[in-house]
Amino acid sequence: MTSGTSLPDAAVRVLLIENNPADAGLVRSMLSESHGAEFRVEWAKALAPGMILLGRGEIDMVLLDLSLPDSQGLESLTAIRHAAPSIPVVVLTSLDDQDFAHEAVRCGAQDYLIKGELTGGMLARTLSYAMLRQRDQARALRAESQAALNKIAGFLGARGGVGTTTVACHFSLELKQRSGVRVLLADLDVAGGSAGFLMKAVSPHTLQEAASNLERLDESYWNKIVVCGADGPDVLLSRVSLALKEQANSETARNVFEFARPMYPWIVMDLGRLNPLAVSLLPDLSDLFLIATLEVAVLYEVKQLVSRLADAGLNRTRLHLIVNQTLKHSDLSPTEAGKMLGVPIHAALPECGSELSEAYAKGQLLNAKTEFRRQIGRLAERVAGLEAKKSK
Ligand SMILES: Nc1ncnc2c1ncn2[C@@H]1O[C@H](COP(=O)(O)OP(=O)(O)OP(=O)(O)O)[C@@H](O)[C@H]1O
Ligand SMILES: [Mg+2]
Repeated sequence: MTSGTSLPDAAVRVLLIENNPADAGLVRSMLSESHGAEFRVEWAKALAPGMILLGRGEIDMVLLDLSLPDSQGLESLTAIRHAAPSIPVVVLTSLDDQDFAHEAVRCGAQDYLIKGELTGGMLARTLSYAMLRQRDQARALRAESQAALNKIAGFLGARGGVGTTTVACHFSLELKQRSGVRVLLADLDVAGGSAGFLMKAVSPHTLQEAASNLERLDESYWNKIVVCGADGPDVLLSRVSLALKEQANSETARNVFEFARPMYPWIVMDLGRLNPLAVSLLPDLSDLFLIATLEVAVLYEVKQLVSRLADAGLNRTRLHLIVNQTLKHSDLSPTEAGKMLGVPIHAALPECGSELSEAYAKGQLLNAKTEFRRQIGRLAERVAGLEAKKSK
């Protein structure tokens, strides 16, 4: 049975599948008197006509009696969930049988109502909450599957001063420019924190503030915490020189990234040196770039670090070695270094001049087309799979 009139946007279209006309009449009159949300009811006397109405696609939720002439018990629920998995179902049962009703909820019903106990207020409230719950669950599921596609690239220095921050910043800029997607650069070098300086990102807000306000973190608050880049990445700063105790409290930092991840196809982390925070984030990284130079002493440290990272559970396939300033430090060639370490060199970046610190002016990226930038651009394309997309 249809109303035949066009519905106001706010009205909830309920499909009532109920063979008892007296019960159906009661539900309809209760919902028509609802003071909160507006409900429009379509009534089907059995499962089969109910499925036809459902198939028309103009239903927001189903109110389902579990004893119907053409289907009994959980069979009806399963059929509806199968045909329309995103539509919330509330089960109506005349049996005062909690176990049966609980079984229905386990099988995907959002809630249940016992006919003899129905009141108008309770009915309207139950339907409204069921709609909200279903919407929240769908949103969480979407965010989760989106987050699974999004990537996190970590940059870790084999030693201080090898260029980790410089490479991470330029990588995030090239990634943003070449892919066009939203990129977050997180300055997690809690000992130094120079990514913000290099990106000319100034803000009183930090990762630690986000971590302390997890429960009220939403997209608009988040946009105040990060320094939003016009043609560069958003930058998340860290409070530097934290007490060691705070550095180790890294679980909250992971929660912040769990929140941010659905918003960013790419998160780039300047991890600084190996520390408790960096170790705690290892499982979340899609790729870890280890930055070194070709100095023998640094390469020795790389060897130690690679085995420490393996001990911490990092999968070797996610680890990529980048040698920086190859002309300045050339104790060995990149190929010799790779052989010595047993880790292939993923990229070799040249020495470059003052343009490194002049690449940014008032948040604007200048067109510094140096060999260093070209190499980083190529690396970003490779990591993001943009080369393959281009050749297609
Ligand atoms: N390829 C390069 N050519 C020339 N200079 C470079 C290159 N890479 C980094 N530098 C310079 O080396 C210095 C150290 O770089 P950066 O701060 O990025 O290193 P870091 O490993 O992050 O250091 P820290 O341990 O302090 O965090 C900076 O002055 C930077 O401009
Ligand atoms: Mg640094």
